[in-house]
Amino acid sequence: MVTVTILVTGGAGFIGSNFIFYWMENHADDRVVCLDKLTYAGNLSTLEPVMDKPNFRFVKGDICDKNLVLDLFRTERPEYVVNFAAESHVDRSIDGPEVFLRTNILGTAALLDACREFGVGRYHQVSTDEVYGDLPLDRPDLFFTEDTPLHTSSPYSASKAGSDLLVLSYVRTYGLPATISRCSNNYGPYQFPEKFIPLMVINALNNKPLPVYGDGLNVRDWLHVKDHCRAIELILRNGRAGEIYNIGGHNEKRNIDVVKLILQELNKPESLIQYVADRKGHDRRYAIDPQKIHRELGWTPQTEFDDGIRRTVRWYVSSSDWWREIVSGEYQEYYRKTYGGI
Ligand code: NAD
Ligand code: TYD
Repeated sequence: MVTVTILVTGGAGFIGSNFIFYWMENHADDRVVCLDKLTYAGNLSTLEPVMDKPNFRFVKGDICDKNLVLDLFRTERPEYVVNFAAESHVDRSIDGPEVFLRTNILGTAALLDACREFGVGRYHQVSTDEVYGDLPLDRPDLFFTEDTPLHTSSPYSASKAGSDLLVLSYVRTYGLPATISRCSNNYGPYQFPEKFIPLMVINALNNKPLPVYGDGLNVRDWLHVKDHCRAIELILRNGRAGEIYNIGGHNEKRNIDVVKLILQELNKPESLIQYVADRKGHDRRYAIDPQKIHRELGWTPQTEFDDGIRRTVRWYVSSSDWWREIVSGEYQEYYRKTYGGI
């Protein structure tokens, strides 16, 4: 018997698809509706395992398309809405901010208005720790809490901060039962190859140079995507409306160390590492304080990085059919533009 309908936007992307798999595995009776525009980052082939299931529906569409969104709410009446749909890559936002403002802010507004019109049990905004800006490398005692002021560095993070503020305004003004999570960097299967970990794995497999920005000492706080999905589930079920929850597992790694681990795992030489010009405005260190979600919802990450990264590398090795399709066409053009001659 169908219990609830959950609308997942951006479900053909990295985290959204992992969330759909997670939800359907753990809530077999629920109806899952995925709304995705299928931009360069969305891949229908990722959703193949669930496409034919009777309790799954895929809708190709733009979250900024107000009429389409309202029609979808009218027919599906979702109890939960989880918004993963976004332009998500910092480097692309530096190159062209406009689409980030459109999708991340105006798209969020269209979803919030539909929630207001039809009523929902919960709207959840999937946000990022990047809204807090960065921390210095020489202060390992500092972490982002939910009260850390917003201090964005890139058009991407500014657009995410903008959408977070919009969500909070709908909570306050209209009493919308919404929550926000701000997660650290995710890794795992089905991540688009422009992002750091899959890019390094795929380049190493192809014996191509691994482009490390700047001095390679920037620190990211890595979390396995499945732990992120479990955290969102807990927030949807038990989180308090109007609240922000930081998600992270105290798993800080320097970029260069992650690259070396990947090379080691693939038995490839470190001579493939190539230091390239730094990203403009490159955030130095991200580090989440996850005490609130641990204390209130009992969440702790279950995947150890050493194990998770090995499994992830092996997944990319054995899933070349998935990424080969993606690294052709538009991506080649993007790669040439971003990485020049290497
Ligand atoms: P992704 O780029 O892999 O996927 C984004 C998905 O959204 C794609 O399927 C794309 O087709 C879809 N989409 C884009 N614009 C759309 C539009 N206008 N209408 C409908 N669909 C649209 O991104 P991801 O890494 O899975 O990130 C998902 C969310 O999680 C984003 O909001 C991102 O800000 C956030 N986040 C990501 C990370 C990370 O490490 N990847 C960490 C914290 C938070
Ligand atoms: P990325 O996956 O783009 O995530 P974010 O910038 O949102 O944290 O990058 C992770 C880190 O890896 C970041 O410090 C930038 C760095 N990086 C490189 O050194 N080389 C690359 O080619 C890419 C894509 C990222």
